[in-house]
Amino acid sequence: MTKPRLTMNLASIRHRLVVAVLCASALVATAAPKTIALPPDGVQLKESALPGYRLAQSQCVACHSAEYMLYQPANAARPYWDAMAKRMKQVFKAPLNDDDIPVIVDYLVKTYGNEQPK
Ligand code: HEC
Repeated sequence: MTKPRLTMNLASIRHRLVVAVLCASALVATAAPKTIALPPDGVQLKESALPGYRLAQSQCVACHSAEYMLYQPANAARPYWDAMAKRMKQVFKAPLNDDDIPVIVDYLVKTYGNEQPK
């Protein structure tokens, strides 16, 4: 009596599959007209030809957006940005290469600090 049981199981599996597919397509059908409004993109770093721009892109916006740079005082001088970068490394464990810090600081002070072109 194993053969009929196997047939029954296959039939019920097939039935469950049909039900599952019908449910799935019903879900897709109800979900289709919905629109999802994504939040606006985070603030990007200001573009620059300075070499620190690319470094900052890879090392300064992994944890937070570039909005943090925008909210720093525009009269912030080089030592301020240097301290900021070092604080990111020491306090928050930002994976910064020491050789890259002055290059990144040069970009930051000329883009967001007191060495911005007037
Ligand atoms: C490992 C994660 C991480 C990386 C990488 C990182 N930061 Fe931050 N940064 C933080 C955190 C966390 C805060 C928030 C501190 C707070 O809210 O007080 C922060 C805050 C800031 C602020 C806001 C001012 C302040 O003192 O809180 C600035 C500006 C900033 N980061 C600049 C940078 C720069 C420049 C780099 C690249 C050199 C960088 N961050 C890379 C984690 C990171």
